[in-house]
Amino acid sequence: MNCEQPGNILDFRSDTVTKPTEAMRKAMYSAPVGDDVYGDDPSMNELQNYAANLLGMEDAIYACSGTMGNLMALMSHCNRGEGVLMGANSHTWKNEGGNVAGIAGVMPFPLDDSSGCPTIESIRGAYLPSGNVHYARTVLLVMENTHNSAGGVPISVDTFTRAALEAKSLGLKVHVDGARIFDAAVYFGVDVKEYSSKVDSIQFCLSKGLGAPMGSILCGQAEFIERARKHRKALGGGQRQSGIAAAAGLVALRDMRDRLADDHKNAALLAVLLAGAGLTVEDVPHRTNMVYFVLPDSSSDISAFVRDCAERGLLLGSAGGRRIRMVTHVGLDESAVRSAAGVISEVLAQ
Ligand SMILES: Cc1ncc(COP(=O)(O)O)c(C=O)c1O
Repeated sequence: MNCEQPGNILDFRSDTVTKPTEAMRKAMYSAPVGDDVYGDDPSMNELQNYAANLLGMEDAIYACSGTMGNLMALMSHCNRGEGVLMGANSHTWKNEGGNVAGIAGVMPFPLDDSSGCPTIESIRGAYLPSGNVHYARTVLLVMENTHNSAGGVPISVDTFTRAALEAKSLGLKVHVDGARIFDAAVYFGVDVKEYSSKVDSIQFCLSKGLGAPMGSILCGQAEFIERARKHRKALGGGQRQSGIAAAAGLVALRDMRDRLADDHKNAALLAVLLAGAGLTVEDVPHRTNMVYFVLPDSSSDISAFVRDCAERGLLLGSAGGRRIRMVTHVGLDESAVRSAAGVISEVLAQ
């Protein structure tokens, strides 16, 4: 598998930095294409059908990015002014440019998701009963699996199902930001349908650990996907010969899921090595492909630390405060992990 990294750079900033494999590039080169806005792109249709089947959902639609897929879901589930429950640390709440309010026009209510899954108490506490004229009508719960800022934490089927059932019992729809849902499924060794069958819609990214150069998929019932198609067009996400992207996405979805376990193994090793170097590595109940650690007060300021690592060819992600994130992916093997830990020890010691 060719997953080139530029020069000797060890890029741990994100799993979004992966480069398309040779198989993806070949598939893109020879992909049959058509105008996808007319529904005429055979490669795109194949990808969407494959994804819908894989997740056991009625239908699926391609989105240019995870952000767009989540936004299409919000706009398709909710009317303006309606209420959406979402984690206070979720990507949709914190990292999607305020589009929940600014574009979808919905009212977000933050939940306690500090350990990944929104707690049942916070779902109950944030829900506003219908019938009271003062309240935004609460219509949707958004969950994130794996949960990025909680540490790439995969939510178990049990915990996930309890939260989804709680939302259902309140009459809410459930959307999952499953940018890395296959990491969760692979981690727990379960069929991804164990998650998708509990919810109304799910978005996952082709362009993260699965290694495709672009794109996400939103899955749900056929009628929901039709609404999402309209919103995608309005958002400028209707593309023409997008089968070029779909061809790489199909390779990603078929061939790259199982290997996510390697990323998890490498992240676990990285966590051990960093702890061995004296760093406070965030302890998470389950580790997928992310490692967060906190830079000790005794060392330099965070930007100097990141810069010093970069000068030695190691790229890291600064995650706010003195927190740093490292993400393993297909472009990084065990020896890259060992080299990265070596660079970090060297910079800490200087
Ligand atoms: C959990 C999660 N959801 C959604 C997204 C958005 O994906 P994109 O960058 O493709 O818009 C990301 C991106 O990193 C993410 O980590």
